[in-house]
Amino acid sequence: MNIVRVKDYQDMSRHACQRIIATIKEQANPVLGLATGSTPEGMYQCLIEAFNKGEVSFRDVSTFNLDEYVGLAPSDPNSYNYFMQDKLFSHIDIDQSQVHLPNGNTGDNQQECKDYEASVHQANEIDLQVLGIGLNGHIGFNEPGTPFSSRTHVVELDASTREANARFFEKKEDVPTHAITMGIATIMDSKEILLLISGEKKAEAVKRLLENDEISEDFPASILRKHDNITVIIDEAAGSLLAD
Ligand code: GLP
Repeated sequence: MNIVRVKDYQDMSRHACQRIIATIKEQANPVLGLATGSTPEGMYQCLIEAFNKGEVSFRDVSTFNLDEYVGLAPSDPNSYNYFMQDKLFSHIDIDQSQVHLPNGNTGDNQQECKDYEASVHQANEIDLQVLGIGLNGHIGFNEPGTPFSSRTHVVELDASTREANARFFEKKEDVPTHAITMGIATIMDSKEILLLISGEKKAEAVKRLLENDEISEDFPASILRKHDNITVIIDEAAGSLLAD
C-alpha cells in the first residue's frame, strides 16, 4: 500500500483530483470507478474547477459507480444517481451514455446485478477506482461478513451504516434497508485504487486498516492490503491514532 499523509480534507481532495486528471490524460478511453458519500465531494468540486479552467475534458471518460440504494428512482434526491449528477456529471462534458450506476429500481435486482457486473467487464475493467471507507470497514456497501469473492450483489445495510447515512435523509426510517453494490472481487479487479480517508471519525478504521495485519471478512477494507496498486490518502485527523 502506498500511503500518502496529507494535512486536511482540502489537501486530500486536491491530491485525489490530480491523480484522476493524470489517469484521464494517460489513457485514451479512461474508465473511472466512482464513490459517493461526503469523502469524495471536495475531489469532485476540484475536478469541476479543473474542467472550467480547461485543464481536463471528460469527453472520452466512462464511469462506474460503486453502489446505489434499492427502491429509489434515479431522480430521487437521495439516490446516488442524483448525487453524482448534482456533484459532478451535470457540471462537466461527460457523455451521459458513458455514465453507469446500478439501478435499484428496476424490479429485478438479481438481473440488474448480473448486467452491471457484465458491463464493468465489457469496459475492460476499471483503470482507477476511488473508494471511501465506512466506520465498520465497509467498501462500497460491502458490509462486514461479505465474502471476498463477491461480485455485484444486493446487500442488507447494517444498522450502523443506515445510522451513518441518515444525515442525508429527512427521517432515519427513510434510509433504504437494501442496496446494490459492486462486490469485493469486482473492486479488487480495478487496475488501480485510490482510497480516501478524512476526519477523526475514521481514525479507528485507519488504525485497523494499517496496523492490524489480519486480512478478514470481518473488516472488508483489509483485503485492499493485497491489491498491488493502491494509494491511501489520509489526512491528519484520520491518521491521529496511528503509532508514528
Ligand atoms: C457509504 C457509501 C460508501 C462510502 C462510505 C463512507 O455508505 N456506500 O461508498 O465510502 O459509506 O461515506 P462517507 O464518505 O460519507 O464517510
